[in-house]
Order: sequence, then C-alpha cells, then structure tokens
Amino acid sequence: MASYNFLKPYTFKNGITVKNRVVIPPMTETSAFEEGSVTTDELRYFKLHSGGAGMFISPVANVAESGKGFEGELSVADDRYLPGLTKMASAMKQNGTKAILQIFHAGRMTNSKILRGEQPVSASAVPSLRQGAETPRALTEDEITALIEDFGQAARRALEAGFDGVELHGANTYLMQQFFSPHSNRRTDQWGGSLENRERFALAIIKRVHQVAAEADRPFLVGYRISPEEIETPGIRLPDTLKFIDTLADQPIDYLHISQGHAFQTSLNDHADTEPVILKIQHQVAGRLPLISVGSVETPADAEKVMAAGIDFVAIGREMLREPHWVQKAASGDEAAIRYTVSLADLEELGITPALWHFLTVNMHADMHVTGAN
Ligand SMILES: Cc1cc2nc3c(=O)[nH]c(=O)nc-3n(C[C@H](O)[C@H](O)[C@H](O)COP(=O)(O)O)c2cc1C
Repeated sequence: MASYNFLKPYTFKNGITVKNRVVIPPMTETSAFEEGSVTTDELRYFKLHSGGAGMFISPVANVAESGKGFEGELSVADDRYLPGLTKMASAMKQNGTKAILQIFHAGRMTNSKILRGEQPVSASAVPSLRQGAETPRALTEDEITALIEDFGQAARRALEAGFDGVELHGANTYLMQQFFSPHSNRRTDQWGGSLENRERFALAIIKRVHQVAAEADRPFLVGYRISPEEIETPGIRLPDTLKFIDTLADQPIDYLHISQGHAFQTSLNDHADTEPVILKIQHQVAGRLPLISVGSVETPADAEKVMAAGIDFVAIGREMLREPHWVQKAASGDEAAIRYTVSLADLEELGITPALWHFLTVNMHADMHVTGAN
C-alpha cells in the first residue's frame, strides 16, 4: 500500500467521514433526458467512476426550469425527478464514496433556444461578453425570493434521494456568481451595489439550504464552489473575493471548493502577483473550513503537491474521466498502469457517451490527451 497523504480519511465537523482526500469535481455529461431526468447511460458512467474517490460531486443540476444552461442537463427542480435522483445517488455511492449533488441556476449563461422560447434571467439586464449572448431580464424581488426557496427545495430532494450533501454552484459565471459580480449585477436595491448587497443572494441560499441540512435526520454536507476572479471590467477581483470568502468561512457550510484551471494558478488580472490564489484563500480562511483545490491535477505527485501545501482535498476532473481506477491504482502501487490518454476505442469501457465526447472535444476544447482520431 502506498502512503500518500491524499489517501488519508477526513472527518467533517458534522461527523461525516470520507475515506480519502480525492474528489471527483462536478463534470456535466450533457447526457440527461431532454426534460432533465438521469439516463441509464449516465447511471452506468456513475457506477464505473465511483468507488475510488472519497467524494464524487455530480454534474450540475438546475433548481428551476429557468435555470437550465445547456441541453442534456440534469434537473432537480421538481419532485418528479426523485426516482431518477435516487438511482443516481446510489450509483455514485459505490464502495463508500460519498455522493454530492451540485445545484445551480445558469442565469444569463443560457439562451432562449435552451429555455424553449423564454428569455434568460439574471441579476440585471446585462448580457455576458461571450459571442451571441442574449440580454437577460432582471429578476424581480419576488422572483429572487422564489429562487432562494428553489435552492432549498433542491437540497431537500437531494437529501430524500440519498445524497450525502449538496454543492452550491457559486462559480463558473452562473447565477450565484452573477449576483456577486459587478459586471452582471448593476442593481440598486438590497441585492446589488455594495459588496454586502452582492453577497446577499449567496448568503440567503446558504441559510435556506442549511435549514434543510439542520432539520435532516442524518448528517448532510453543504459545500460552496467559487471562482475567485473574472476578467471582465467591471468584474470580480481578488480583494473582493477574499472579503467574501472571509464571510463564507463563518457561514454554516462544510467546505469551500475553489474552481480554477490550475490548482496553483496565480491572479488572472494582477500579473505581478506571483502567490497562488489558493494560498491567499487558505490564509484568509485560516482553518475555519476545509478547502478543495482543482485544476490540471493528473499524477499522484501532482495530487501530493496539493496536500503538501496544506489543502484538505484535491479534485481531479478530466483525468478521472480517463482513469476511473486512479485512486485504486495509486493506493496499490500500480501507478505505472494509470492511464493518461484516451481514444475512441476506450469510450465504451469508460462510460463516456457520444454527447460527453462531443462536449469534451468540440464544445469545451478541453485538453483530453486524445490519441488517434476523435
Ligand atoms: C466535461 C466537463 C464538464 C464540467 N461540468 C462542470 C459542472 O457541471 N459544474 C462545475 O462546477 N464544473 C464543471 N466542470 C469543471 C470541472 O469541475 C473542473 O473544475 C475542471 O475540469 C478543471 O479540473 P481538471 O483540470 O481536473 O479537469 C466541467 C469540466 C469538464 C471537463
């Protein structure tokens, strides 16, 4: 048995113990049914990829119909999804792996085609800077209140379906981030303007979702995913993020997941600053919450580097798609057998659907280390 630090268990303050520090980050498969239910293809993928990592965070699921961000997205917006979500939780919980449901609203990062004719909504009527972006409609106060409740109901469904927790998707430019961002949020009411007002939507969601966790008959994790910066001007900059994180660290959440392209990435905006963002965040949090770092981690040595920096968890995304037995191989000293490439011939064995393959190789331009034709 190898003695890597990432193989050590971790116990959260609510008593849930995860068997190791390796996390599969949320990776959408774009393979759900058109109406948002999980497909048997996805269930197969979950079973194949579960069992090694301590925590398996699901592909993102929308909490409301207006929050659908792309085709083939899972939904948790109604009780009708409970049978599928229950199968999903059980498929993701092989061999002691803990299953977390990531929940979100896409906000302006969608379009009226995906929303079947409806106009996207956001904090304000400001389109994103991506090509072809539609101008969203600003949410009313009543709609904001209803959406906060939608997050609460989504958490309740995750609990009923048997998940070990939920992750609030406050990252990757979606609605929770849109409320925090001075680019997408130009409101002049209590939900916009000052830093405190831009934090309000996230904090209200945390409060509502925590209520579900607190009333549950078993420990239930509430995680929060955040993107530290934006490149738009105006946009989210690190000093504001660190203040927000300081507030988040005192909220009733169980972990903070820092979404970046590289685990030790430096500032996207301040090129003179050479300190990795994750270390700034670690300093700010000062042990109040465990952190998950993600981004381009592939080898056991890469993962161990994250541990050596004192980060609690390491998430491994694309590499886990290629190698579902990464943890088992690292643990048994069979590292030479870890796969770092993927070819068309591997897709069936890996449970990668044609839709996910298309998403990976065409839409996302994700570097998947593909060998042969794709
Ligand atoms: C196919 C694919 C789908 C993704 N879907 C999601 C998602 O649903 N929610 C999310 O927060 N991040 C999503 N991400 C981002 C990943 O969680 C992760 O942050 C990113 O892939 C970087 O980690 P890696 O370098 O280990 O792959 C996705 C990434 C990929 C490659």
